[in-house]
Amino acid sequence: MWIISEDIFEPKSQHHKETIFTIGNGYLSTRGAFEEGYPADSRATFVHGMFDRVPIAFTELANATDWLSLIILLNGECFSLDSGTVESYDRHLDLRTGLLIRNVRWRSPSGCVATLKFERFASLEDEHLLCLRCQVEPEFDGTVEVRAGLNGNMDNEGIMHWRRVAQGQRDSIAFLHTRTRATNLDLALAMKVDSDQTPLETAFWDVENFPTLSQTFTVKRSQILSVEKFVGIATSRDTSDPVGMAVEHAGKAINWESAFEAHQQAWAQEWKRADVIIEGDDEAQIAVRFSLFQLLIAAPRHDERVNIGAKTLSGFGYRGHAFWDTEIFMLPVFTYTSPHIARNLLDYRFHTLPAARAKAKENGFEGAWFAWESADTGEEVTPTWVPDFKDKKKLARVWTGDLAIHISADVAYGTYQYWRVTGDDDWFRERGAELILDTASFFGTRAEWIEARNRYEYNDVIGPDEYHDHVNNNAYTNCLAQWNLETAFTVLDWLKVKCPEKLTDLTERLNLTEVRLEKWRKVAANMHLSVKPDGLIEQFDGFFDLKDFKPADYEPRTKSMHEIFGIEAANECQAIKQPDVLMVQYLLHDHYSGEAIRANYNYYNLRTDHTYGSSLGPSIQAIVACMMGYPEDGYEHFVRAARADLRDVRGNAGDGIHGASAGGTWQAVVFGFGGLRLNAEGWKTSPHMPKHWKRLSFKFFQHGKIQVVDIQNPSGAETGNTS
Ligand code: BGC
Repeated sequence: MWIISEDIFEPKSQHHKETIFTIGNGYLSTRGAFEEGYPADSRATFVHGMFDRVPIAFTELANATDWLSLIILLNGECFSLDSGTVESYDRHLDLRTGLLIRNVRWRSPSGCVATLKFERFASLEDEHLLCLRCQVEPEFDGTVEVRAGLNGNMDNEGIMHWRRVAQGQRDSIAFLHTRTRATNLDLALAMKVDSDQTPLETAFWDVENFPTLSQTFTVKRSQILSVEKFVGIATSRDTSDPVGMAVEHAGKAINWESAFEAHQQAWAQEWKRADVIIEGDDEAQIAVRFSLFQLLIAAPRHDERVNIGAKTLSGFGYRGHAFWDTEIFMLPVFTYTSPHIARNLLDYRFHTLPAARAKAKENGFEGAWFAWESADTGEEVTPTWVPDFKDKKKLARVWTGDLAIHISADVAYGTYQYWRVTGDDDWFRERGAELILDTASFFGTRAEWIEARNRYEYNDVIGPDEYHDHVNNNAYTNCLAQWNLETAFTVLDWLKVKCPEKLTDLTERLNLTEVRLEKWRKVAANMHLSVKPDGLIEQFDGFFDLKDFKPADYEPRTKSMHEIFGIEAANECQAIKQPDVLMVQYLLHDHYSGEAIRANYNYYNLRTDHTYGSSLGPSIQAIVACMMGYPEDGYEHFVRAARADLRDVRGNAGDGIHGASAGGTWQAVVFGFGGLRLNAEGWKTSPHMPKHWKRLSFKFFQHGKIQVVDIQNPSGAETGNTS
């Protein structure tokens, strides 16, 4: 259960499949477009950190030089799936090694037949190396010409980000050096082409922005020709000499076998830490591995100044911007299985603190208010307007950048969780504590004292359920802010005992006066939350008075309730995009009784736009259902998350992988069905697995030690002691 495959090429699903067949190595990712191209393909390579300016959305990851380009001519006829006849076709992505293979038997318009095998991988061992191989088995005697290029004429759906700096050849290695137009970031790719036969002719074509190495071979029927293209890549974010570095990495590649062997070994290490085994359910098994794979190829291993965008590095959607999707959905995967990656992601937030402080200050607050959409600098890059989904000629106002304050608490939550799970005190002392204290400062000043009601409130916000904006006292926001403030005191107490000098430093730098701390205490103690006697929490003030809504009344449908109702009408009814309240009950599960969780689940589950609302919701609902002991209900939600990209349930997988759903899929398995919880002694599981699951096994790190969980179904709980 490691292979994602297709055995037919359907042009109408090419963008979805390009996303599914994305490969990468944590430095970059490349969508699964064909080497030779196909009409209207959405080919793209995104390199972490390579942002350039763009109208409206401020900045986006610039689609980098295409390293895949490989044009094959059989007796002078150009191989392409949109001409001639495709006699057989299959494509496979091996999740174990990140190797993408495509086999095609093709008959040219004039009748030349050949079987072509394309293979590619982005080396995990050397993240500056990309490898491509094509084997051609001709069923004719004649010539095969292979043109390997570096195509710098790439755009972001019409926007050109690159200007050419230089191109040429160094020894037999061709290179292209480009620069982003506004941000002046340099990118260099260098390519070497090797083959197992001596070419009849070779040529270097110095085509502007598209250096190409062409080789022509004489071939005989059934004699396989193998051509290998090695591409080195580097940016000015890595070195002052990107061309030199790219040439060096291309030149270092000895041959396909040795490059692949090193790459495979690196992947073996990843899976050793991260793999999850599910027996009795092939779909769940492949989905959780696919989710892990997609997160692992997007995860920066050697860079603490980049984050993972909501669509990872696999598509144009959300332009490479990072959201709360990172801390709440994806980060736990890394915190538990790959703490070094989790630390890089949190370091990114640490480095963007100046921008978060500036955002708070500009809005009249203290502390750190992180950008809802964050890119290179951490400044707010949420577009203010986007085309309205009902009428693309109109614009709709996007409020999240102005009103989604919960992002600061989400960052604090991810930070604290990382610290608790890893026990990384050194990092926490140097960086993590500051993240929690300065977000607490923000919540301390953002809270409003409402004299008439004798309580603190957060008004005019937008919570995770984005079908409702400008709401007061969103439960998720209030509870997480309160948690952030309370946790700040735990942090201060810890600093006092463990590192008083750091406490003095932070007290001075963050201006943590006694008056300020007293305010935090008061806000936390008097934070408003509207709860009914049975524990049912009102999602925000007045939610229960809105028009009721039952999704079943609108079935069957293929659109979200937002699209059906329109923005204003959605605001006035109880249809929710994702269940805020259940999210809180998951994140702060110790705070709620089983009865309260059930009351909220029963209420909000019925009012959630499960299929077309947010892709972030289903995995969390799966976990909450398991917390109540309803694994079969949980499974229904889980499947929605597991299929988000593999089956393109929302029809938008072509825009890129739903990274949060991928993280949520893993969390649903581990924290939902597996019921893993850490405690002071170590950990325990309270499994609630679907009946058809026979076994669930996974690993995680706690305080630097690897822990193995292996649950047979039906089963009892397991415990582990790490002290
Ligand atoms: C969701 C947000 C999410 C964003 C990026 C939106 O549709 O409502 O919660 O952060 O997508 O995935």
